[in-house]
Amino acid sequence: MTVPKSVELTADDRLLIIDQTLLPNQVVFLDIRGREAMVDAIRRLQVRGAPAIGIFAAYCVYLLALSHASLSGADFQQALRADICALRSSRPTAVNLAWALERMDKVLRQHKNEDPARIIPLLRQEAKAIDDEDAAVSRIIAQLGEPLIHNGMGILTHCNAGWLATSRLGTALAPLYLAHEHGKDFRVYCDETRPLLQGARLTAYELSAAGINTTLICDNMAASLMAAGKIDIVFVGADRVAANGDVANKIGTLSVAVNAAYFGIPFYVCAPCSTLDPSTASGKDIVIEQRDPEEVRSLWYSQPMAPRDINICNPAFDVTPRSLITGIITEKGII
Ligand code: MRU
Repeated sequence: MTVPKSVELTADDRLLIIDQTLLPNQVVFLDIRGREAMVDAIRRLQVRGAPAIGIFAAYCVYLLALSHASLSGADFQQALRADICALRSSRPTAVNLAWALERMDKVLRQHKNEDPARIIPLLRQEAKAIDDEDAAVSRIIAQLGEPLIHNGMGILTHCNAGWLATSRLGTALAPLYLAHEHGKDFRVYCDETRPLLQGARLTAYELSAAGINTTLICDNMAASLMAAGKIDIVFVGADRVAANGDVANKIGTLSVAVNAAYFGIPFYVCAPCSTLDPSTASGKDIVIEQRDPEEVRSLWYSQPMAPRDINICNPAFDVTPRSLITGIITEKGII
């Protein structure tokens, strides 16, 4: 399947992203320049999805390095470290962001006594490698997950873990794309996904554009479809997998997993090894991003749909305990 890339560094060093806040109504490419705009693009979810924000941040480091090219060695290192810190603080939960920035920082550390002119091409090379490796990993996850999909199945997915969220193809959607390419006949139900409607705006857009039989449902409908026997398997992505196998993913994933366990439906998480975090012992240690209450109160409505002074809780992610997970599909195999 050939699709555009959601994050792309052009040959003339422009960092282009598809503005994911505008989909599906408008397909707008943004040319992101400067640290503030970079951090803002991650915070506002113009670029989103664990692998995609890691790739984006890596390219940001390269572009910021270019902007500091005239500095002396020590000043260059200091300025770029401050940029890396700012990018790292943009969102806390998806580990791919910190993981990609650590790879970029390592290049910087390894060449700390060298001229910026020598380091900058190495940073470009590293960012490109992070991007290319993610594309290769998506293909392997597709190949490992595809045999789990059979003709006539109903598949549930939550949030967006497709090509918009990665370098290419996706994680949770990758096996679906491959099964479709192989001519398998199945139906996908995608949860709309609160609070930012990633399922409705992004997954429904991706899958329908690919010609996959897709039905959009609200998050609270999944259990009733399971009870009606319409869901045979669940595929979701991940933002961080703790050392014990607990998985942080988009808010609502835990409800899907609890329901799937109740109805005896296999629940698979698809995640590249860059999403595994051995330094986080269990799900309890994962920092969950809290977002603006207005995303729930008013963002999607022409006028606020709840009293202005009502308390609003808006966590962006939840943690599914490993006991509810049938398997984690990584590029190294199914755990
Ligand atoms: O807040 P988002 O849209 O960045 O959250 C994304 C998810 O939770 C995805 O399921 C996850 O990053 C996997 S992406 C391949």
